[in-house]
Amino acid sequence: MARVAVIGAGTMGHALALVFALGGHRVRLTDSNPATLAKAQGLMETALATLVEGGEAPKDWTSGHLAQAVTRHESLEETVDGAELIVEAIIETPEAKRTLFQQLDACAPRDAIIASNTSHLDVFPLIPEGRQGKAMIAHWYTPPYLVDLVDMIPGPKCDPAAFEQVFGMLKAMGKQPLGLKKFVPGYVANRIQAAIGLEVQHLLDEGVASAPEIDAAIIHGLALRLPILGYYAKADFTGLPLMQAVARNKSYMPPEPRGSSPTLDRLVAEGRTGVLAGAGYYDWPGNPARLFEARDRRLIALKQAMRGIGTMAGLERSE
Ligand SMILES: NC(=O)c1ccc[n+]([C@@H]2O[C@H](COP(=O)([O-])OP(=O)(O)OC[C@H]3O[C@@H](n4cnc5c(N)ncnc54)[C@H](O)[C@@H]3O)[C@@H](O)[C@H]2O)c1
Repeated sequence: MARVAVIGAGTMGHALALVFALGGHRVRLTDSNPATLAKAQGLMETALATLVEGGEAPKDWTSGHLAQAVTRHESLEETVDGAELIVEAIIETPEAKRTLFQQLDACAPRDAIIASNTSHLDVFPLIPEGRQGKAMIAHWYTPPYLVDLVDMIPGPKCDPAAFEQVFGMLKAMGKQPLGLKKFVPGYVANRIQAAIGLEVQHLLDEGVASAPEIDAAIIHGLALRLPILGYYAKADFTGLPLMQAVARNKSYMPPEPRGSSPTLDRLVAEGRTGVLAGAGYYDWPGNPARLFEARDRRLIALKQAMRGIGTMAGLERSE
């Protein structure tokens, strides 16, 4: 059992606190906004209840158990007191992260490991020199209590033993850490998602298909094979000469990144910012918490089915 401090209790932070608690660790959670820190308790409880109900967390995990495993603290000093692993999950701006790393340098135990959840920033130049030996990125996906992938990148001066320690810890928690050799913005999965993002925005903006039609193409075509074959095993089943011919013909040209999408800009201007606002590309009437719950229930069912089905690709290949 490790002592883990999670800094930032927003979308990711509260969920990461729950993940480490379920992984058997003692967690202290903080946020610079006391209202966010207070709200985190209810969010963790709702997520935990869904996991218990779906059989993805032990039945004896009640809210009382959770309150013991995760404590909330308004002071940063108190949060990191005695911490062995510090998980940074604050807003994605270099200024805020640089300031936090300086504060941590002043108050965190000298041998604490710092793992940033940054999505796109090269945080290593923002971390004080004295902390470089134990600095790394461990990037999770939302909701991290259901999505197992964690991108891991050691800082340029990171002690390999510290990196292995966190890698092993995540493995022991049933996660799928993926060690990358060096930092690239977006890592692997988010880069692929960004490429898909360019294409779907192009198809919608050009009026080729509607948002539900594009989603139907993904769900009934692309997505069905992905959990079993990934990309490269699917290519092997397709046959590589066809891939070579497509590459040579240049029959497919990816859209140019334009930096904006007229449809996206219009929706945001109309206040259709997503599930929390009740609408985005789709209408989402009703309580957002119930919608997140409905998403989580389906993800649990899919994960459980996938365990039985197995995969013919990736690191867990089982054909
Ligand atoms: N949302 C996602 O899907 C997702 C996925 C992977 C990684 N991330 C990354 O995780 C980090 C957090 O993202 P999020 O979506 O949870 O953001 P968020 O805005 O929901 O939460 C960030 C929280 O950090 C708090 N905060 C800001 N400065 C702070 C400080 N100095 N000390 C303590 N708390 C502070 C804010 O009050 C806020 O509650 C970002 O680096 C983001 O890129 C997000």
